[in-house]
Amino acid sequence: MKKDWKLPSLKAAQIRTPQEAAIERSLFALDPQVRSLGIGRRYFIHTYGCQANERDSETIAGILEAMGFVPAFTEAEADLILLNTCAVRKNAEDKVIGQLGALKRMKRENPDLIFAVCGCMAQEEDIVDLILKKYHQVDLIFGTHNLHRLPQLLMQAMMSHERTVEIFSKEGEVIENLPVRRFGKHKAWVNIMYGCDKFCTYCIVPYTRGKERSRDPQDILAEVRELKTQGYKEITLLGQNVNAYGKDRASGYGFAQLLRDTAEIGVDRVRFTTSHPWDFTDEMIEVIAAYDNIMPAIHLPVQSGSSEMLKIMGRRYTREEYLALFHKIKERIPGCSFTTDIIVGFPNETEEQFEMTLSLVDECRYDGAFTFIYSPRTGTPAARMQDNVPAEVKSRRLQQLNEKIAYYAHQNNEPYLGRIVTVLVDGPSKKNDQVYSGYSETNKLVNFTADHAEAGDLVQVRITEIHSWSLNGEKVEQSQPQTA
Ligand code: SAH
Ligand code: SF4
Ligand code: F3S
Repeated sequence: MKKDWKLPSLKAAQIRTPQEAAIERSLFALDPQVRSLGIGRRYFIHTYGCQANERDSETIAGILEAMGFVPAFTEAEADLILLNTCAVRKNAEDKVIGQLGALKRMKRENPDLIFAVCGCMAQEEDIVDLILKKYHQVDLIFGTHNLHRLPQLLMQAMMSHERTVEIFSKEGEVIENLPVRRFGKHKAWVNIMYGCDKFCTYCIVPYTRGKERSRDPQDILAEVRELKTQGYKEITLLGQNVNAYGKDRASGYGFAQLLRDTAEIGVDRVRFTTSHPWDFTDEMIEVIAAYDNIMPAIHLPVQSGSSEMLKIMGRRYTREEYLALFHKIKERIPGCSFTTDIIVGFPNETEEQFEMTLSLVDECRYDGAFTFIYSPRTGTPAARMQDNVPAEVKSRRLQQLNEKIAYYAHQNNEPYLGRIVTVLVDGPSKKNDQVYSGYSETNKLVNFTADHAEAGDLVQVRITEIHSWSLNGEKVEQSQPQTA
């Protein structure tokens, strides 16, 4: 093992101290010798996982472009390929491992190609071990805490032709003033906090992303104002648990206040994700209800409908508490859509406990859900639990749950028939360029016909057909130019 490698440690990643995380404003530097490292070179980033990773890839792209790199349209024409990875479930990791195998062939054909692996998998001991032993084509591995070090790390990997490995397993800082190249033109992600302190017993995120740490509100609001000036129509406030925003700082400025101040800036659409039910306050509900530009679409992960199971999962709420919160939000924000995350086949989940999840879905009638079979993550408490649930039972439960979710998704879409909804246009639809697509305020995918529509337009669409996962319609063409 090379002496200057900095390898991850799950044990160190678990530590939490009461100190407020430092806000670092000048960690990023482009030394003269790295400033032109990318000139004449192209990069390609594969991004896996959640929006936190999407946003990190935008930072990585920003850093690379500051070094002179330009984006490659395809992997084949790239001089630098980065895999920004996700560790949340084994199937997410398998995709990356498969990709690593495929990249081996490319390196044989072009030995100058540089491969980098970053993101949450890079924070895992066993994965880094595996890459170092079996995937010699990887030149650089860096983690989630040191994006700002990318110029120096790339320099080392490219100039020394030696593998470079730098991963920090720590609580982490809030690092401001990194370059960004946004991938979206009218929708943007805005981090409001990093990390997670919830330590749900199945989840690897608190180990890969560090401590829950909030950005300064002034930095967030300045970013939102700039996005608005640049013409962005929708911003999504991001965090593993946005409701805990500000709780790690002495100022007392929390998510409700941040949401209000963000809405006041006047961006057309404000969204946020993810809300852990634990920290959802009445004040937040009031703010969401009060502002037309805060979208009435709540993602409220439940994970299980059984209080026993929730306790073992370390979720900090009971079925009853979740339902009380759910109904409170629903009453206060009529027409609000709800989505959730659910895990089936947690170690020793009984049929009865699974039935509780089904009955909770019957009560909440979600608009949609991300549903998963439990996947053991090395280093987490759940991975050490004995598990008596056979794989076929887990698959059957997932299927049964998915059928129910699809049923309610369809049911919830029925009232949309004939209704006019406002859609933020993403562009021509993926399947048919005569058709446009975008999302409604309640986050429904809408495909519609129109004489003309531009990405970023907010248009009125009359819904003519409904499906479980999308709505079809036609744009309501304005016969007269609108007057103020
Ligand atoms: N912070 C968010 C979730 C982030 S991970 C929250 O707590 O709501 C996204 C989802 O992945 C989780 O909600 C959970 O449903 C799922 N997930 C996380 N770890 C998992 C695991 N080990 N196996 C299966 N699903 C998992
Ligand atoms: Fe994972 Fe729980 Fe944190 Fe969500 S709240 S990221 S599920 S530990
Ligand atoms: Fe995956 Fe890391 Fe996000 S594990 S879900 S990319 S925080």
